[in-house]
Amino acid sequence: MKKITTMTLLMVSFFAMAQQETIDQKVNSLLKRMTIEEKIGQLNQYTGDNSATGPININPNKQAEIKAGLIGSMLNIIGTKYTRQYQELAMQSRLKIPLLFGQDVIHGYKTTFPIPLAEAASWDLEAIELSARVAAIEASASGIHWTFAPMVDIGRDPRWGRVMEGAGEDTYLGTKIAHARVKGFQGNKLGDLNSVMACVKHFAAYGAAIGGRDYNSVDMSERMLWETYLPPFKAALDAGAATFMNSFNDVNGIPATGNKHLQRDILKGKWNFQGFVVSDWGSIGEMVAHGYSKDLKSAAFSAITAGSDMDMESNAYRYNLAELVKEGKIAIDLIDDAVKRILRKKFELGLFDDPYRYSDTKREEKELNNPENRKTALEVAKKSIVLLKNENETLPLSKNLKTIAFIGPMVKEYKANMGFWAVDLPEVNYDKWIVSQWDGLQNKVGKNTKLLYAKGCEVDGDNKDGFAEALTTAKQADVVILSIGERHDMSGEAKSRSDIHLPGVQEDLVKAIMATGKPVVVLINSGRPLVFNWTADNAPAILYTWWLGTEAGNAIADVLFGDYNPSGKLPMTFPREVGQIPIYYNHFSTGRPPADENAKGYVSSYIDLKNSPKFPFGYGLSYTKFDYSGLKLSSTKIKSNENIKVSFQLSNIGKVTGEEVVQLYLQDKFGSVVRPVLELKDFQKVKLDAGESKTIAFTIDKEKLSFYNNKLEWIAEPGDFELMIGASSADIKLKADFELVD
Ligand code: GLC
Repeated sequence: MKKITTMTLLMVSFFAMAQQETIDQKVNSLLKRMTIEEKIGQLNQYTGDNSATGPININPNKQAEIKAGLIGSMLNIIGTKYTRQYQELAMQSRLKIPLLFGQDVIHGYKTTFPIPLAEAASWDLEAIELSARVAAIEASASGIHWTFAPMVDIGRDPRWGRVMEGAGEDTYLGTKIAHARVKGFQGNKLGDLNSVMACVKHFAAYGAAIGGRDYNSVDMSERMLWETYLPPFKAALDAGAATFMNSFNDVNGIPATGNKHLQRDILKGKWNFQGFVVSDWGSIGEMVAHGYSKDLKSAAFSAITAGSDMDMESNAYRYNLAELVKEGKIAIDLIDDAVKRILRKKFELGLFDDPYRYSDTKREEKELNNPENRKTALEVAKKSIVLLKNENETLPLSKNLKTIAFIGPMVKEYKANMGFWAVDLPEVNYDKWIVSQWDGLQNKVGKNTKLLYAKGCEVDGDNKDGFAEALTTAKQADVVILSIGERHDMSGEAKSRSDIHLPGVQEDLVKAIMATGKPVVVLINSGRPLVFNWTADNAPAILYTWWLGTEAGNAIADVLFGDYNPSGKLPMTFPREVGQIPIYYNHFSTGRPPADENAKGYVSSYIDLKNSPKFPFGYGLSYTKFDYSGLKLSSTKIKSNENIKVSFQLSNIGKVTGEEVVQLYLQDKFGSVVRPVLELKDFQKVKLDAGESKTIAFTIDKEKLSFYNNKLEWIAEPGDFELMIGASSADIKLKADFELVD
């Protein structure tokens, strides 16, 4: 049997190499026939004019330039009709090199899924991969070859609006989710009709913008870069990601777009990345504004030298590369390398065989927003909801309630459920496509339940005129559901907030409604962790519903009435106040470790606030209860070439079926550099019926004990470790010590 397997493997890898050999031969032979203008054309990307996702510089000659072979890719071209039209222009060029169509398919194409941060709260890697898979099926059916996702930036600062696009603050969770999303987008292999190229972004460390202010500088040690911010990029690359996108920010004084260390030394060097790097929107040209390049020409020089292959919307390459070659300032080899990387992907996608293969109207009609995709979106949305509080078993609601008041500015919203990056939101009739929270409740309750509605107030602004009506409505009800939070344009790109409190007078609305004495359930919709201390301390039940996409209303209704038992866990720390930011769970101890309650004296704390977060990383409740017991380790002393088998019993001791995300944390008690007080090293999402128990097993190996030392060596140092099994980073259920002896 073994012999056959080896033989099969040899044959498969030989065939793959032979095929790659053919593509490389085709690329080289095409390259030989290209003029320098046509080569530079392949490095040039423009947006369509129907939906710009950056500061647009109108170029009226785009269509003519495509026909002349001077543009290699377009973004924001929506639908088979338009992609076919633009591809037909490219087929009129001398060499008929097809266009690549890219699009920000961040969390769904037509069927919109929960925002990525919400999906991260599901901790369900299969669900996350499936979400990306459906997005790829729909996008590729609509002529898109390439999505600008996954965004894998570690986000420790909720003032930064783009935390909504990522997987939160933790590197380990971030690597797992990055891998799942790339696999989802790219499917079995590039070139399959229902696969799209992934684009890992934003390389690198964009989420560490100082002050959480978008596009701001990033300054960190090389060790922090390698230990915290790079691993999700490497995980995405190892998953086969076809492309990378660099970031707007400067990293330690050098803009990422012109940063050789990032793009040549690390990405294309140490990591041997064979795909191509697209700049972020205009980021090459922005090196002038950075004060790093004197003018657009020197920006083009720095970017191509540093390994930025494709220029999105800055015109730097278009108008300067040929001259730089003529002046002998850059070798044509640099351009050839970039062109080959791009052409290789166009061959892999089968675009030279059939440039229109993804622009198939029939597939588009069949795949977009079909019932199966919406069902998947509903399942993912339910798994993304986090139960933050549930006193007196306020939830789940009884289906026999006579009157429910559904109050708040988010109740009848449609677009607000879709997040900042929804693709191609129509301005009209979206109620035919999106299930609002009000629709979801109407779909759920029986004819004996009366639903009342009042808006109460706007999401922002200080107008309380609607409070009176809201109170009157609340007083008629058995239960009040309040839906508040951020509108979809309050988190996302260029949406940093200096104050992350619930916007406007929404918390005053909560206070007013609570004063009626009615049981209140609060839904908080947002693209980021918010501060809502009064609500958190006083409302009996709170669900964090993020922005859940097309099926938001149905998902929320399922959870409200217990048809789905919430299982989400926070992928980011929720601060008590914005003054605590940056606050994250895997911090160092410091020489005067923070005490929490009423810290006095010489400790690392605030004198005006508790040091702990409002809600910790990994936190989330359930309608049932779980018990952790019987922790066993196969050994408490291991050598670096050995493993420890860890096991414990997880029991559902409540009344309903539920899923628990059990989290494995480790602390390296001392090291050649200080180590975090605890770090997530593994997790499992486990479903148990009421009364059911299951043995959960983890393995501790050297990889889980390793870190970057001061020489940037990835090593595990002998010493004492503490293993913790938690229901969150602040709710450790089981502990044990062990030692690495060599
Ligand atoms: C934007 C974003 C990037 C996006 C690109 C194209 O500015 O930073 O994430 O993919 O431009 O829309």
